[in-house]
Amino acid sequence: MKKIRKLVLFFILVVLGFSISYASITTFATLLSVSGVDIIYANPGENCMNEVTISWHSSKANSKLIYTTADDKNYEKAKTIEVTGIYDETSFIYYDVCKFYKCRVDLKDLKANTEYIYKVQTDNIVSREHKFKTAGTGSFTFGYMSDIHAVNYDNLDLGMTAVKKLQTVQTLINRSTKESGKLDFMLTTGDEVWRGSQYSNWLEWSKNEYTTATEDYLWAGAPGNHEYYTQTTSSVWNYYPDKYASDPSKIYEDPDYFYNTYFNAIKGVPQNGPEGVNSCYWFLYGNVLFMCIDSMQSSEYAKLSIIRQWFKEVVKKNEGNYQYIVAYQHYPWYDFQTGVDKYAYRWNDIFDEFGVDLALSGHMHGYLRSKQLYNGAISDDEMKGTYYVVSPQIGDRPKAITAYNNVDLFGCWESTINYPDYSAMSTITVTKEGMTYKLLNVKGEVKDEFTIKAKRPYILQNQIKEAAFDSITLSSDSSSISAHMDPNNMQYVKNIQLIIDNEKVKSCNPDANKVSYVSVSGIDTNKVHDCVMNVTFIDGSKKTYQTKLATGAKSNIINKLALESTGAKMKLSWEVSENASSYKVYVDDKEYASSSNNYAEIDLKDLKYNSKYSLACLDASGKIICMKDIYYTNYGDMNLDNKIDKNDASILVDLILKNKDFDETSIKFIDNNKDGRVDIGDAYKILSCANNTIDKIKEGTYLVTIVDVDGNLLAFEEVSEGADLSITAPTIAGKTFKGYSNPYKNITSNLVLVAYYE
Ligand SMILES: [Fe+2]
Ligand SMILES: [Fe+2]
Repeated sequence: MKKIRKLVLFFILVVLGFSISYASITTFATLLSVSGVDIIYANPGENCMNEVTISWHSSKANSKLIYTTADDKNYEKAKTIEVTGIYDETSFIYYDVCKFYKCRVDLKDLKANTEYIYKVQTDNIVSREHKFKTAGTGSFTFGYMSDIHAVNYDNLDLGMTAVKKLQTVQTLINRSTKESGKLDFMLTTGDEVWRGSQYSNWLEWSKNEYTTATEDYLWAGAPGNHEYYTQTTSSVWNYYPDKYASDPSKIYEDPDYFYNTYFNAIKGVPQNGPEGVNSCYWFLYGNVLFMCIDSMQSSEYAKLSIIRQWFKEVVKKNEGNYQYIVAYQHYPWYDFQTGVDKYAYRWNDIFDEFGVDLALSGHMHGYLRSKQLYNGAISDDEMKGTYYVVSPQIGDRPKAITAYNNVDLFGCWESTINYPDYSAMSTITVTKEGMTYKLLNVKGEVKDEFTIKAKRPYILQNQIKEAAFDSITLSSDSSSISAHMDPNNMQYVKNIQLIIDNEKVKSCNPDANKVSYVSVSGIDTNKVHDCVMNVTFIDGSKKTYQTKLATGAKSNIINKLALESTGAKMKLSWEVSENASSYKVYVDDKEYASSSNNYAEIDLKDLKYNSKYSLACLDASGKIICMKDIYYTNYGDMNLDNKIDKNDASILVDLILKNKDFDETSIKFIDNNKDGRVDIGDAYKILSCANNTIDKIKEGTYLVTIVDVDGNLLAFEEVSEGADLSITAPTIAGKTFKGYSNPYKNITSNLVLVAYYE
């Protein structure tokens, strides 16, 4: 719990011209202010496939986040989120005094494997553009550096100027990108700034004159000792260097002890740490579970046991959601100068038990990398054990190697004294087979490279599997049973197998063959059948669904069942392939009209947009010989006036806002953007076919609408169930057609295709 601290003391110090002597320099308390918006970070969300947290500081209470996908360069489809910040006047009062509104937006509905751009704004001050990329299911590479010590002045014992330090960060990122490809995000093991309490350090780190590192990437940072430091002391005990010397554990019971205040005031990390330690957190990026340990808090006399317990619980809870575990903290696992165990002993039993693949750390300003270690020794089984890394720094105070005691345990160690600019960073590429680690210096030379073989099989996260499984619908007609899946999920499914009555078996391979359905035909009509559906995902895991499905009465004698809205009437028409003596029309399961012709009329006033119409064919004796349902639903025509316009969009918006439960058939027709539900996106899509009329809605046909990236209608075609789009994309002068946003074969629902041109 934060508490307003001794402001009186601060004012006295300012009045007296409070000065601090540190090393050879003298610095003064400074009054700083955030001009507009600054200190902007994309932080990991709990699951970076869909979740990222944007945090920033604002000078005004109200500010906003404006974000969109990177392909929407002019922000035409951007979303805006208004935020009222939390006023923070207590975090930075000891060295640089700064008060600001801390703002945080937890984005939850992001598209996987997608680059985003964003800006923040207060009044008319707009930030520079920042970027992040969400996780996907395939390979990715993240950058890793430590001990940046960003600072806004020279003349410390830092070995290079403040500017050179930031330039070096950019040089290393450029070299890494050249060597390992585009980086998906950045991870640090702490000491991002020289003094956490110096707001000016953070402002410097957020500038872009010398590096755009913080604006180009999502940053997963860990607190180091320097994030904890005030200017007055190098001790984490802040203002109490001596007060608790005899019993350091007491410091954690002191409400005046600010511990991770600076880190948390700056970053917006997931709030999923152990109770009372909100600078520990975990997140999933693709196939990796990342565990951030605040090593300042995890000493024996502090919160080590609580953090260890949390670690175990998080890993267990995420079982089935990861293939690899990466743990990271600031303090080193092993002493880079001597090879002696520094803090590995606090964790290696847990890392062994839960199969942590890679453990990253920093602080020592030199590089050390272990072999695969298990139980404190070299593992004799490559399916067991952890690689421990101590990262080099950016630029300053390189340490010399002394004597190594445990030389056998390590694969590589080197002082950055030997590296140009005393600097290096790493890239880690994650694939289904393993993780490849590379250490690079500023010349782009690879100074160490090793591969960690995957101990666990490739795994798709449970939420992906559940969504893919849920998107499969089973249906029957008179003599067949079929499974259809949402084409967007085909990439995750290796095989769908249908077994009917334990004997008829058929399957399809959605991922390999781009087939989204399988159908077992030739089965007895008018019968209840046992149906088993086995789904095998691309990670090899399986899910089974069992049900009973009935094949219908002779519903197939009715053809071309169609609806047309004309003036005040809805006209229902049909053809039959066998003789029928008369017909009955039902509306919402109530008998409405009878007819001896092949059409009937219904008053529009008796209908709703989602009315169900049923047609029954009767034989000469008056017995129903077949029955079939149809929904007029919509093609967007919500008010049944045979026109599609913005009135329809507002009706749909209204229904959505009232939480209308759309039935399966409605979804099939109204879900124009193919996300499996009827929502506001579909209302928007209605506008893409605005000003067209519905001439006829025929059973088993769907409307495929082709729009450009701005939603303007280019063309549309009526396509029969299961058929392919036959028209070609309209030609646009001076542009080349590149493809559609969705698969356009085997159409099984209304569909809006975005046509891309270059
Ligand atoms: Fe450091
Ligand atoms: Fe450090």
